Amino acid sequence: MLAWRMSRFFLGSPASVTEARRFVTAFLRDWPCLEAAELIVSELATNAVRHSASGRFGGRFMVTIRVVSNGLWLGVLDEGGPHSPQLSAGSDDEGGRGLMLVSALAAQWGVCGDEHGRTVWAVLSTVPALVASE
Ligand SMILES: Nc1ncnc2c1ncn2[C@@H]1O[C@H](COP(=O)(O)OP(=O)(O)O)[C@@H](O)[C@H]1O
Ligand SMILES: [Mg+2]
Repeated sequence: MLAWRMSRFFLGSPASVTEARRFVTAFLRDWPCLEAAELIVSELATNAVRHSASGRFGGRFMVTIRVVSNGLWLGVLDEGGPHSPQLSAGSDDEGGRGLMLVSALAAQWGVCGDEHGRTVWAVLSTVPALVASE
């Protein structure tokens, strides 16, 4: 069975969102869910920078990609802070759509941790193209 896990820290700046996305692209090149994985990590990294202590001077966040039995686990660990991730009520404003998108794309998603650091995670249920084509 395939079993691997890859993690990397990024500086908590808006420019790092692009880097985090490229990190996903590099490791999931052959996966059919690449686009969904890129979108999810972009949204979660953006949230870490915008809404958690990772966005403060010297802050950072960590992206993890892990193969699990039911697919692919993607997580973004931030440095916490007073606010928690909340699904918005689906208003028409520009904001509040990131986690809606994550919940729509993922088979499961959730948050763990506290004000000292939170991981927002999502599972994409899929198999690698390599396996699917055999
Ligand atoms: N990593 C996080 N840490 C703290 N709060 C978060 C985090 N991610 C999301 N949130 C909270 O959840 C809300 C909804 O997030 P999201 O759906 O991505 O919308 P937006 O980022 O556009 O506000 C945010 O406005 C914020 O209050
Ligand atoms: Mg957001």
